[in-house]
Amino acid sequence: MKLLVPSTGTPISFLDILVGVTSLLNRPMAAFGATLKAYTNKKHCYFTNSGTTAFYLILKALKKLSDRTEVVLPAYTAPSLILPIRKAGLKPVLCDISLKTFNMDIPLLGNCINENTLCIVPVHMFGAPTDMEAVMEIARRRAVFVVEDAASSLGTLINNSPTGILGDVGFYSFNRGKNLSTLSGGCIVTDNAGLAEKIRAECALLPKLKLVSRVKASVKLVALSLAVRPLFYTLFYNLISKLKYTALHMDFESFAYTNFQAGVGRSLFNHAGKIFGKRYDHGMFLFDKLNGLKGINLPELIPHATTVFNQFPVLFNDEGVKEKVFERIISTGIESTKLYPNPIHRVYDLGYDTNREDPLPNATYFSKRLLLIPTHPMLNVAGLSCMVNIIKEGLGSC
Ligand SMILES: Cc1ncc(COP(=O)(O)O)c(C=O)c1O
Repeated sequence: MKLLVPSTGTPISFLDILVGVTSLLNRPMAAFGATLKAYTNKKHCYFTNSGTTAFYLILKALKKLSDRTEVVLPAYTAPSLILPIRKAGLKPVLCDISLKTFNMDIPLLGNCINENTLCIVPVHMFGAPTDMEAVMEIARRRAVFVVEDAASSLGTLINNSPTGILGDVGFYSFNRGKNLSTLSGGCIVTDNAGLAEKIRAECALLPKLKLVSRVKASVKLVALSLAVRPLFYTLFYNLISKLKYTALHMDFESFAYTNFQAGVGRSLFNHAGKIFGKRYDHGMFLFDKLNGLKGINLPELIPHATTVFNQFPVLFNDEGVKEKVFERIISTGIESTKLYPNPIHRVYDLGYDTNREDPLPNATYFSKRLLLIPTHPMLNVAGLSCMVNIIKEGLGSC
């Protein structure tokens, strides 16, 4: 039997689940909060049901501090980031990405900022960090807030500082595709007392899930701990694949994170170093084997960063070659993905005229040619080498 390997996954053990259950008696949310405060060295930490909600609450809090209405974010990132911006009554402004770093093109950032800019949202895509020093320098000069989206980069360090702590406020996601997952969840960290107070007030208004929904979420989390393992994933593939979300989101729900998730999260964080270390090793293995090959580009990594890859991005020059490589990798049973197939301005109508010359050409080019290779701890060197060989063969360099 050929084992199938999912594209994402956190190795949640039986012990993590057990700790999640036993910690229900012991204020797990406060304990997980203390763990994250220690990790980020931040004074304030708040939990939500998702990264999307975390971002939404940050924007609502910022609105109470400023009348400005524009939010600058990269043109290639999770399209769902548009939803909280709109729901908060703000206007998204897209900054094209760099085909070298795969993140926001910082030299273009200045042109996206005006007297109405509320905040810049640098996103560390795939775990690969944006140059925060450069972003902060521009933000300070132009007097705008920085909301650091570290949803995909928990564990990545810049000069030994975790991503998520370098802006005015940062947020993480614990959804099932992220570096550390409790099925779903989000977290906000900041040192800014004024902002923290507003965010705390917003968090306090989040409704708590009813008992039945909390039990359902707990059962799903236990199921996830099994589903990410290749044997279970293979045996129950038909069922699991039905549960993956495929539809474009037009709205999102906001509610409180659950105590069980917080308990499991805290237990997971005890071995986060090992989980992040595996992702780092797998990413660097792929980087070493693929760097310099003709026909693809890899992200230029900023100096003094330790990149915990959420997935490993490979940008092909030729869309056709990418498709062939994708099919070949899938046929081995390892799930690579092509997320996101369209840049944000082609997903939601944001007022960009997409029939004329493309206003954000790099984001469009990138989304068509990107292949993501999994890096999670359930992979091994044999699987990674197999993907390297397929890419080399596809490029005709083997
Ligand atoms: C970069 C980025 N930001 C924010 C989010 C939103 O996080 P969540 O799925 O927890 O709402 C995602 C989710 O995929 C993401 O990739």
